[in-house]
Amino acid sequence: MAQAAPAVSLVIQAHKPAGAVNPLFAGMMIEEINHSMDGGLYGELIQNRAMRDAPLRPVHWSPVGPAQIGLDTTEPLSDTLPVSLRLDASKASTSQPAGVANEGYWGIPVRPNATYRASFFAKASLSFFPVTVSIVSTDGSSVYAKAETPHLSDDWQPYTVTLTTGNVPSTAKARFVLTVDHPGNVWFTLVSLFPPTWNGRSNGLRPDLMQMLVDLKPGFLRLPGGNALEGDSFERRFDWKKTVGPLEARPGHQGPWGYRSTDGMGLLEYLQWAEDMGAEPLLAVYAGYSLNGKHITPGPDLEPYVQDALDEIEYVSGSIDTKWGAQRVKDGHPAPFPLHYVEIGNEDWFDRSGSYNARFAQIRDAIKAKYPDLKCISAVGNEHPSQRITGGNLPDLVDEHYYKSAKDFEAISPAYYDNYPRTGPKIFVGEWAAYEDIIPWDPRSAPLARTPAFKSALADACWMAGMERNADIVQLQCYAPLLVNINPGASQWRPNLIGYDALNVFGSPSYYAIKLFNLHRGDTILKASLDTSAAGSVPPVQYSVTQESKNGTIYLKLVNFSAAAQPVKVTLQGVNSVSHPALVETLSASNLADTNSITDPKKIVPVDSTLNDIQPVFTYTLAPYSITVIQLHAR
Ligand code: AHR
Repeated sequence: MAQAAPAVSLVIQAHKPAGAVNPLFAGMMIEEINHSMDGGLYGELIQNRAMRDAPLRPVHWSPVGPAQIGLDTTEPLSDTLPVSLRLDASKASTSQPAGVANEGYWGIPVRPNATYRASFFAKASLSFFPVTVSIVSTDGSSVYAKAETPHLSDDWQPYTVTLTTGNVPSTAKARFVLTVDHPGNVWFTLVSLFPPTWNGRSNGLRPDLMQMLVDLKPGFLRLPGGNALEGDSFERRFDWKKTVGPLEARPGHQGPWGYRSTDGMGLLEYLQWAEDMGAEPLLAVYAGYSLNGKHITPGPDLEPYVQDALDEIEYVSGSIDTKWGAQRVKDGHPAPFPLHYVEIGNEDWFDRSGSYNARFAQIRDAIKAKYPDLKCISAVGNEHPSQRITGGNLPDLVDEHYYKSAKDFEAISPAYYDNYPRTGPKIFVGEWAAYEDIIPWDPRSAPLARTPAFKSALADACWMAGMERNADIVQLQCYAPLLVNINPGASQWRPNLIGYDALNVFGSPSYYAIKLFNLHRGDTILKASLDTSAAGSVPPVQYSVTQESKNGTIYLKLVNFSAAAQPVKVTLQGVNSVSHPALVETLSASNLADTNSITDPKKIVPVDSTLNDIQPVFTYTLAPYSITVIQLHAR
């Protein structure tokens, strides 16, 4: 370990509030990327349940026993679900059942003493017989759970069975199997399997992942994207009206990240997820621009999309006597959701036609006319000055996105928002993350770890300290992307905050850095200044000081991104004494490449300690490469 450096000095004016921290300050951003929803948080275990993931083959399905399978468009369940899987079981017998197996999202997770709900629509050829539904090890040697449907009908009917495992070992080396032991043909679609879900909700969420998210105590959930809002084209945008109602009324759609979304995780499920986390939705509405670079001309052509946005806001927050509020009630959620922020589009600075100003104004004016209190966010931030909205009615907030190398975040954090003009719209940092070595959208990052190492967590903490210190203008912020299925081929981006496979979940070091910040946020910024002149030209320390007014707790956050221990002389001005011991939480690593993973999920987690004998002036030595939160109670 390198020698401790000369002390830097932090003077805190404990009696001088420097602004309020928005109660919603720290949130989350989600979109369907990296199998975040399908194959991630959304509890569904069957991949390609509606048989539309590929046009020619029933991908993720395979025959079992003397069976032949294929896609069939001649026996549609409905216009919404036009494709079925045809099982030719003409050679089936009791000694040789024939059927079809689904591999799940990189395995079907089997847990002991767990109850699963399987359902599907099916129709059979003339002979009537039941279907055996089971969860079976991939080598076929173990049947973990099994049930039988009633005899099938020769027209489309829904079937549901419950599967309960016994005292079996946890494994993801399993598949979901449907077999018959009588000759005949069977058609299946919307085949579904749900494990136990968060709060036991049907069509619900994966509990272990949900627990990780709830533990972050987010203030808001920015949804549904990101690129996933815009889609590759108008037709492939997040068309929210096609994502609500019963699952059989949702066609799903091709997302922009290389795979199809079931939309089982639709608008209402996103909203309920936010509610279950104690967070507010921050709704991003489609603004007439898609990733293929085409835009809808502002004016009459845009009107249907403006109306769609108004309908969406009504669905989210309207009373039960409005058209779309009533639809929400019908869909199962009588209470309106709280809604204070609406973002208009996503990264519209990509639209080089210059149409965003007018599209924004048209949508914003319509929203403000009906919902004057809603805050409207521009999807173009100050980091794109040439595209920024400067005329007309300014946005309430602008959305800025920062994907920076760890080195860059460390370099810019000391001054970036400190030097921001206080005269323009407030800031929403709607996407940010530090990356190591290779920029996320460079294909060379594909083989690298899907979640960040401690090097990024340190830089993320520097950036968070800068945002929090300037929470008078940075009103909202969220890391992105949030979730990643770490199986080969499942993801399109790195780094991501939380990784998982079918059975396990882990938080990256950045997850624990964010948790440290979120759980010690405070509601008031305290004026403070850091003098690093003793430590040389590049200050290796970042800081933020906030206070919780209801109990007076001062949260002192310090980041040391150097390899040496770093003493900090802390001076609390305007106080007579400080209670002790003070609680200290530290996240550190001896090596910047250290990280968490499926096999070592808790290698880097915060460690608690106490600090005794503190006076209004005290020196605390930060561990090398560390993020520290000290809770102070001063009088
Ligand atoms: O977070 C990944 C992508 O980065 C988002 O979809 C997009 O908004 C940004 O470019």
